[in-house]
Amino acid sequence: MLSKSNIILTDAMRADYAIGAFNASNMEIAQAIVRAAVAKQSPVIVQTSEGAIEYAGLSVMAQIIKTIAEESNVPVIMHLDHGKSIATVKRCIEAGYTSVMIDNSTLPFQENIKNVAEVVAYAHARGVWVEAELGAIVGKEGVKELHGSATPDSFLTDPKQAMEFVEKTSIDSLAVSVGTIHGAFTGQEYIRFELLEEVERAVSHIPLVLHGASGIASEHLQKACKGHVSKVNVDTELRVAFEAACGEYFKTTHESYDPRSILGPARDAIQKVVEEKIDLFGSSGTSKIY
Ligand code: G3H
Ligand code: ZN
Repeated sequence: MLSKSNIILTDAMRADYAIGAFNASNMEIAQAIVRAAVAKQSPVIVQTSEGAIEYAGLSVMAQIIKTIAEESNVPVIMHLDHGKSIATVKRCIEAGYTSVMIDNSTLPFQENIKNVAEVVAYAHARGVWVEAELGAIVGKEGVKELHGSATPDSFLTDPKQAMEFVEKTSIDSLAVSVGTIHGAFTGQEYIRFELLEEVERAVSHIPLVLHGASGIASEHLQKACKGHVSKVNVDTELRVAFEAACGEYFKTTHESYDPRSILGPARDAIQKVVEEKIDLFGSSGTSKIY
């Protein structure tokens, strides 16, 4: 069933587990994510980036996720990931998204606050949950290039600013920059737990969101989910599984020309990765009627 974030994420925050948020850009990936959640009887978040919306079309992607959610027996949240413009966020809310992220983390602090507060006013009037980011995450969705002496540490979340940001915007969840990196596995990414705990103390009343989870060591992710973060975003590891399965297919010659023989095993490969993550984040068996 299509569900809202509010109770699901606050339940996770109170009970020391996290809900997995997985990126989808087509039918097979969305199906794989929800099939995994059904197999693990866990709530799940299916999210689309602006790039996925551009690729598939907003109404098409929204209808695919809504239909798959309604046909499942677990709570499924339909979320906009890294919404950059207020216009896109509003379009997604009109299309039935039950949760949105406005990511203006690369803008000056006061501008970030102003835009996010505008989105919160619009979304809350329509019962929609809002995630926003403070501090920026290096990689495809955030700081695309490091200039001069900048390192990923140059964009970490400032706990003091976090308190002001949450107070002035009334957001429902905060995406933090604590050392993870979007995309490929650089080996530089790891979670700075001392900073994560400082941010958590500064904004203890709302759930925190960890981005860039691909490539992070399982034991570190598990530790983060036990009481620090309530939503974990995973994208690249799903893409890697998808491509690996397609690669397997093309290693052998085939009589028939049937895309289902390529996309079917790729869907199963993604389902397996999502099931492993749901176990790791601790939300298996927590599904209930919300
Ligand atoms: O918002 C999406 C995520 O932060 C994905 O990051 O590709 O490193 O898993 P990832
Ligand atoms: Zn992200």
